[in-house]
Amino acid sequence: MDCCSLAIMSMYRNAVWFLNGIHQYTRKGYDAASIDFEPNDLDVSVVGRSFMITGANSGIGKATAMAIAKKGGTVHMVCRNKDRAEEARSEIISESGNTEVYIHVLDMSQSHKVWEFAENFKKQYPSLNVLINNAGCMVHKRELNAEGLEKNFATNTMGVYILTQTLIPLLQKSRDPRVITVSSGGMLVQKLRVDDLQSESGYFDGLMIYAQNKRQQVVLTQQWAVDNPAIHFSVMHPGWADTPAVSTSMPQFHQMMGDRLRTVEQGADTVVWLALSRAAARTRSGQFFQDRKVVSDHLPLAWTRSSAEEIQAFISQLETLAKAVQSQGDVDVNGPLVPPRPSFV
Ligand SMILES: NC(=O)c1ccc[n+]([C@@H]2O[C@H](COP(=O)([O-])OP(=O)(O)OC[C@H]3O[C@@H](n4cnc5c(N)ncnc54)[C@H](OP(=O)(O)O)[C@@H]3O)[C@@H](O)[C@H]2O)c1
Repeated sequence: MDCCSLAIMSMYRNAVWFLNGIHQYTRKGYDAASIDFEPNDLDVSVVGRSFMITGANSGIGKATAMAIAKKGGTVHMVCRNKDRAEEARSEIISESGNTEVYIHVLDMSQSHKVWEFAENFKKQYPSLNVLINNAGCMVHKRELNAEGLEKNFATNTMGVYILTQTLIPLLQKSRDPRVITVSSGGMLVQKLRVDDLQSESGYFDGLMIYAQNKRQQVVLTQQWAVDNPAIHFSVMHPGWADTPAVSTSMPQFHQMMGDRLRTVEQGADTVVWLALSRAAARTRSGQFFQDRKVVSDHLPLAWTRSSAEEIQAFISQLETLAKAVQSQGDVDVNGPLVPPRPSFV
């Protein structure tokens, strides 16, 4: 496609996505969709099952942790800030009455640390039933982590990839294992790009890089489902919920949407349903969900589908990066790990 066609296609995708959003992603959209929810789906007890939730101190992650704690599950909160995590943990324990809530301090943007954490967790705990990849960020300025990876990519894609890949053997040993990744409907405007994972070229648009990372999560989920048939994988869009991420990263959007935004509980509803219900486990692994239903991961006529070669190129790059990240920490823990431009990309 030439530049003009690409620009028109991009405007078309954004317009369709926004109109969809006004109807479906708002509080009204949730109210309409929830009429079809099966009320008994969440009548379950998950005492004895363990759930790891990244970014569990705030917004959708905290609402998910609360709902799971209320059903008796053991909750492993993976958070980057100890004080914020302690505060959320106290609230979850006092409201749910469940004391099986544990904190693990981890910054998901620090790739080697993510790998170390997951390795240690595997040694320390005999099982993990459900992993919920919820932590996410939208950084508007290009920053690199210690390994030289761009921060949005490091948090939203690399962290999710390393954590999930490393925990797969533990999940496989556990009963009814599930992995749920909180993506975003914003990914519908993006086609997977495999040529510039670190956003080194062109204008740095944090919103579009975030949306690209969320597309990457969808592609990863589909690939994991194929490679790991013993685990149920799903990826979802929470709708537009009123959380600190939205008010700080998209202040104008937050102001414009006002009380049309969903509550955090409404945003978390499908995550909770995917984590707890038997109905979710009966769905085919690897699909994209919105309001407890499988929905298409592409807008009509949007040209966002990828070829098998593109997907393979993406996965290969992640594998290479993960190997490099894993070995780098062993080499030199004090000095700079990589030159500013990652040599292994
Ligand atoms: N709200 C929406 O409308 C919406 C729409 C689509 C998708 N989502 C997705 O929903 C997920 C949850 O976001 P939210 O809306 O609930 O926002 P939120 O309340 O701001 O929660 C984001 C969570 O992620 C954590 N986090 C961010 N970067 C991290 C890092 N490097 N290491 C560890 N934790 C990190 C945050 O920790 P701190 O508290 O320490 O910052 C916080 O706990 C995200 O993946 C987001 O992309 C949200």
